Amino acid sequence: MNIAFDRHRRLRQNATLRAMVRETYLRKEDLIYPLFVVEGEEKKNPISSMPGIYQFSLDMLLEEMKEVDALGISSVILFGIPAHKDAVGSQAYCDSGILQRGIMLIKEHFPHIMVVADTCLCEYTDHGHCGVVKHEHVLNDESLKLLVKTAVSQAKAGADIIAPSNMMDGFVIAIRKGLDEAGFSHIPIMSYAVKYASAFYGPFREAAESTPQFGDRKTYQMDPANRLEALREAVSDVQEGADFLIVKPALSYLDIVRDVRNNHNIPIVAYNVSGEYSMIKAASQNGWIDEKRIIMEQLISMKRAGADLIITYFAKDVAGWIEE
Ligand code: PBG
Repeated sequence: MNIAFDRHRRLRQNATLRAMVRETYLRKEDLIYPLFVVEGEEKKNPISSMPGIYQFSLDMLLEEMKEVDALGISSVILFGIPAHKDAVGSQAYCDSGILQRGIMLIKEHFPHIMVVADTCLCEYTDHGHCGVVKHEHVLNDESLKLLVKTAVSQAKAGADIIAPSNMMDGFVIAIRKGLDEAGFSHIPIMSYAVKYASAFYGPFREAAESTPQFGDRKTYQMDPANRLEALREAVSDVQEGADFLIVKPALSYLDIVRDVRNNHNIPIVAYNVSGEYSMIKAASQNGWIDEKRIIMEQLISMKRAGADLIITYFAKDVAGWIEE
């Protein structure tokens, strides 16, 4: 008998050989760590659905940033939770708002760390929607104006990258224009270009206190069933001047990460969202899975799908493991 077949196992014989033929890597520089900032002092409020993740008051944020810096993480993304919310989210574009003060503090002490500002209104509005609401509709162009004010105020505070996440049409071009006019033409925009209306954001809404008080976000975030629409969203944002494209969530949308990678030549970011974090934490607290191996496998799958960068609540753990 003379049956011919390929001997794929030749290249898997030992760890050295496997390392030599490994195709995908995760680097510390790939990680962006999300942080939630609240008003007050000495606050490190645990998020019950996200073990290991906290809301920090500014003094405690500094402590956390020391760890982040020591681990060699190069970038953080900040979310602000104001003490007072109102219908138009005015704390989002207040120059002394909680997010602005968080940005200033980090840049003062850690100038080499890139601070990404999440630019949205949902954490700042009393109704929890990402824009201005009239008769229970989220208005597009009216919301854009406030979003531009928010972005400019964040840039003034020292944000290195602006990341608009509210899914209003035209937000990239509006913010680009606003930043340029205010003297921030050098500040890149990391657009949440492809953001699905996902149940995986559940734990984040506890962390950011941003659950919509009526309805849902389906008139602005995307239908999980749609793939071609994701490509249209990405094309718009690139044409409007986005410097990075975010796909969010990550795990159930790796096909979309790959599609966007294949169609665009700017850096692609996968957002490994809160629900993806919580599921791993819950299973590992039960002793059902090997937490470290599962995290690394998931993050490498995002890179393999084509992501250049990953926003992840696991950043500190992973940076430590990469160091080892
Ligand atoms: C909106 C925003 C959301 C997330 C990041 N930015 C939530 C939403 O659209 O409700 C979710 C991130 C996560 O789940 O980790 N400002």
